[in-house]
Order: sequence, then C-alpha cells, then structure tokens
Amino acid sequence: MRGPAPKDGIYDISPYVPGKAAAEGIENPIKMSANENALGCSPAATAAFLEAAPRLHLYPDSQAKALRAAVAKKYGLEPERLIFGCGSDEIFAMLADTYLSPGDNAIQGEYGYAAFPIVTRKEGAEVRRAKEPNLALDVDEILKLVDERTKIVWVANPGNPTGAWLPGREVRRLHEALPGNVILVLDGAYREFVDEPDFEDGVELARSSGNVVMTRTFSKLHGLPGLRIGWGYGSRSIIEALERARPPFNVSLPALAAAEAALGDDDFQARSLALVEQWRPWLIQQLGGLGLEVTPSRANFVLAHFPKGRASEAEAFLAARGYLVRSTAMYGLPNALRITIGLEAHNRAVIEGLAEFFGK
Ligand SMILES: Cc1ncc(COP(=O)(O)O)c(C=O)c1O
Repeated sequence: MRGPAPKDGIYDISPYVPGKAAAEGIENPIKMSANENALGCSPAATAAFLEAAPRLHLYPDSQAKALRAAVAKKYGLEPERLIFGCGSDEIFAMLADTYLSPGDNAIQGEYGYAAFPIVTRKEGAEVRRAKEPNLALDVDEILKLVDERTKIVWVANPGNPTGAWLPGREVRRLHEALPGNVILVLDGAYREFVDEPDFEDGVELARSSGNVVMTRTFSKLHGLPGLRIGWGYGSRSIIEALERARPPFNVSLPALAAAEAALGDDDFQARSLALVEQWRPWLIQQLGGLGLEVTPSRANFVLAHFPKGRASEAEAFLAARGYLVRSTAMYGLPNALRITIGLEAHNRAVIEGLAEFFGK
C-alpha cells in the first residue's frame, strides 16, 4: 500500500551521509572524519552542561537572552540582529524555508557543503552548482548562474570539503554584483581557523547591507557539535522574518548554557586553534611527501587527492588500523579523502599508515 506522498522535491534530496563513526572489529576508532575538535570541548562548557541537569524540566529561554548578550558583546554585534539555531544547519533550513519557493533557485559551489542542497530541494527549489576551478569558489562562475528566480547564494568560507577560502575583496565583489533581493549567506563554520590578512568574515557586509547573513557555529572551534547550536547575524528585516519562522524553543537549555560558557573560555579556544595551526601545515607537508596533492586548506581539516581509485582503498586501510577519515565521493570527489586535524599521535599514525599503504 502506498503511503501519503511527500511534497515535490523531497525525493530529489540525496540523504546526508555523515563521516564514519565506526570501524568493523575496532573498539574505539579515532574519528578524523567529521571535523570535530580533537581536544574535546571546554571544561567550562561541560560544567555548565552538568549544572543545567536539574533544570531539564523547564523550557529553554526562547529568546536566548544570556547567550545573545554574550555573543553580541564578544563580537561587537547588535543583539537584535542575531538569531540562534539548533546548529547552523537549522539557520540554513530557516533561510530556505523563509525565502525559497518552488521554481526558485539557490546557487552554491560545485563542491559546496552538503546541507545546502538538502534545505534547498526541500522547498522545491533548484540547486545550481557553480564551477570551482582549482576546487575553490569562483565569483564569476557564481554570477553566471544568477537569474530572476535566484533567491540565495550559499558561500561556505572556508568551504567544506575543500577547506579553500575566498578573500574579502572577492566576497565583496560577489555581493556588489548580486541583485538586492538575493540573500548572500556567508557560512563561517570554520572561520576561526583562518589566519589570512585578506580574509573577511562578512560581519561588516552583514552589518551594512540588507541582504547578507553570516553564520557561525559552536560545533568546530568550541567542540560542541553534540549539542547542536549555532548563530546567525544579518539585516534587521531578514532576522525579523527568520524569527517568525523559527520554532519557539529550537535551542535546548543545556546547549544555551554550555555555549555561553564555551564562548567565555578563551584558553580552550586558543589551545584548539594552536593545535590546528601546528598540525595542519605538518599534515599538508607529510601528505605532499607521500606524493599526494593537498588542497590548501584554512579549516580544521585537509583534503588529500589520491591516484585514481586509491582513495577508498586508503580509507579502508586506515579504518582497519582504527583511523576513520572521510570519503568525499558524495561531494563529487571520489579520489580524495578529507582528514580532520587530530592530536599529534593520531596525525602521525595516519601518516605512518598511509606511508605503509603506499609501500614507502
Ligand atoms: C561548511 C559547514 N557549515 C556548517 C556546518 C554545520 O554546522 P552545525 O553543526 O552548526 O550545524 C558544517 C558542519 O560540518 C560545515 O562543514
């Protein structure tokens, strides 16, 4: 018997495939497949989470007042122009819900983050993929795809799974060329890991224009992906519209408490950044030494390119030794693997494993 039919577009969605969390026959594999923080999370965040336990019978603060004030203060933003979500993924979903209708389109990079097509197709809108020469977003390629039905341009900067980034001047050039009714979403999930003088995170663009939303997450630098919490900053009119569509208690009480504590833990943030800054260049250099090309990443992971057909073999080889890395086949990059920066011993073990794999 046939069940009720979902609305148009739902069966066009390819279900999201998360990074592997288990390896057959291995008890506690080391997960370097989901861009999580190898240091865990801030002890202050854990304490705040535990302190929230006696209050689980209460609804969370629907306005996220305390966290809103903390984010506004830390980044110098107007509190009323912030919105909080169950992960930044929920903010993308709210944007798509609020602004996309069947027949509209949203543009992203050829290898863009996998949540963008899901939320776009759910609205019956078309996903347009702009070519990414050299695996990096290209403003002219994006602009070629804009037409009168374009409502959103999704830009993850740096991007996942490439780790590539667009300099501030290119983001501003893109914004200047977009019609004012198109929302430019600047997804800064990995923003904190970028230390480039030419990089701009879009705060100023979001502050001064009516059609830009910048998003950030507590899942990467702060190490809280299990709690699902992120935020967005945009024009008053967009945030007001999103607030109307937002489920009233979308961010849980422990998530609000832990995120606020994490935001205040500068020491944990500094240690997390230092880990990436120390081991990212090392991994890039070592992978290069094994003859692999590596996309120049500015995120907490690297993307290594393997000889044709060998990436999935290497993934299985590492998994058998207890190290999980991410296949990027679902991103259209079947000959690459994405490796999250780990602790020293784990980074070294992955390189040793790959050296053995290649017989070096
Ligand atoms: C580019 C990018 N944006 C956003 C997210 C989602 O973050 P969140 O956990 O806040 O939903 C991810 C997670 O992997 C990501 O890679």
